[in-house]
Amino acid sequence: MIKSLRGMNDILSEEESKRFTYFIDIASKTASRYGFHYIETPLLEETALFKRSVGESSDIVGKEMYQFIDKGDNDVCLRPEGTAGVVRAFIQNKLDRAGGIHRFFYHGPMFRYERPQKGRLREFHQFGVESFGVESVYEDAQMIMMVADILRELGIGFKLQLNSLGCKECMPPYRDSLVNFIESVEKYICEDCKRRKSTNPIRVLDCKNEKCQALYEKAPKLINSLCENCESDFTKLKKILDENEIAYEIDTNLVRGLDYYSKTAFEFVSDNIGSQSAIAGGGRYDRLVEFLDGRPTPAVGFAMGIERLLELIQMPEESREGYYLGAMDDEAIELVISLTQKKRQTEKASCDYRARNLKNHLKSADKINARFCCVIGSNELENETIWVKDLQNKTEETISIKEF
Ligand code: HAM
Repeated sequence: MIKSLRGMNDILSEEESKRFTYFIDIASKTASRYGFHYIETPLLEETALFKRSVGESSDIVGKEMYQFIDKGDNDVCLRPEGTAGVVRAFIQNKLDRAGGIHRFFYHGPMFRYERPQKGRLREFHQFGVESFGVESVYEDAQMIMMVADILRELGIGFKLQLNSLGCKECMPPYRDSLVNFIESVEKYICEDCKRRKSTNPIRVLDCKNEKCQALYEKAPKLINSLCENCESDFTKLKKILDENEIAYEIDTNLVRGLDYYSKTAFEFVSDNIGSQSAIAGGGRYDRLVEFLDGRPTPAVGFAMGIERLLELIQMPEESREGYYLGAMDDEAIELVISLTQKKRQTEKASCDYRARNLKNHLKSADKINARFCCVIGSNELENETIWVKDLQNKTEETISIKEF
């Protein structure tokens, strides 16, 4: 028997698919309320796009890409995340030259060749948003508020972790002082951190090795050496979050696993889903558009991991909806099918293709959570009527087919 690949799941059960579509619905409506519109970009892109944006030193590009040479000899890969493709589309369609503000949201599958475990898949789904053209830190605040709105509407509790990664003014001198510090403890750190020292030193700060973490407690903190502009923006961000009652913790080790960030970086985590606790992450990436050969354009965004959220969603109580139609006589079957077809043009409706007794029809209507169970037997057929039971209010009546 052929099975799905490791770390790649079907979304199949009715319960799971309801949760999935409910999430997409709430998140899309929220993003639209914030003035974002839907964008679709290809799942397959040139490998170079991710190397240049997510970064060659990141685990995602270094170890986790589904990369291959296609039949036309192109080096391509399945997207490991959504931001790079949206930025590519933004530049390719000359929106960087058009200027102005452009706000997008998207959802779909992403692919990372990771070691699968609970909450960590090789094919997973993200809901993400990207905003281009707004330099103000208040846009960063809007992003965070949007995630908070979505999570609250879904009844999901969260913790927000916040950091500033500085800009091209304050990051380089900080990086130098961090490298000096790493050299002073180099004998004791893990092999990964030794490698990171030369590829992307700030990534040592989120090393999962406990020994390394203990050593880095004494490392210099970027938050203490931000330039005036980054410092002022970070203060504004904290103030606006306070005013809007969004609690956060400052996590100076939050550096994110993708290389394109500057200034604001944030992650939403949940205590209720085990070790893979990050449910959303994002931040500002003011230099990425320029880096991918576009006109310099400030940008900020986030993405949420849908699979990690599914089991946390508090689903609203389902109310009965729509019509179930059934025949009690073979002669009534075709009329039942035609009436169902008519009802379906405006409402949810389904029918049984077999003639069955009333009890069975009522059971079937109840099973699909229909509001009305409507039945036609020989009497009704003769009188051109239909028997309708409202399963919510527990009332019943016989009405003319015309009226129905
Ligand atoms: P990310 O932090 O790599 O950011 O991913 C965002 C979210 O996707 C994570 O918080 C997590 O919930 C989910 N996720 C990541 N990897 C997996 C996995 N293997 N299995 C299940 N869920 C996973 C980004 O991707 C950035 N593009 C976010 C962004 C948008 N930044 C700016 N704009």
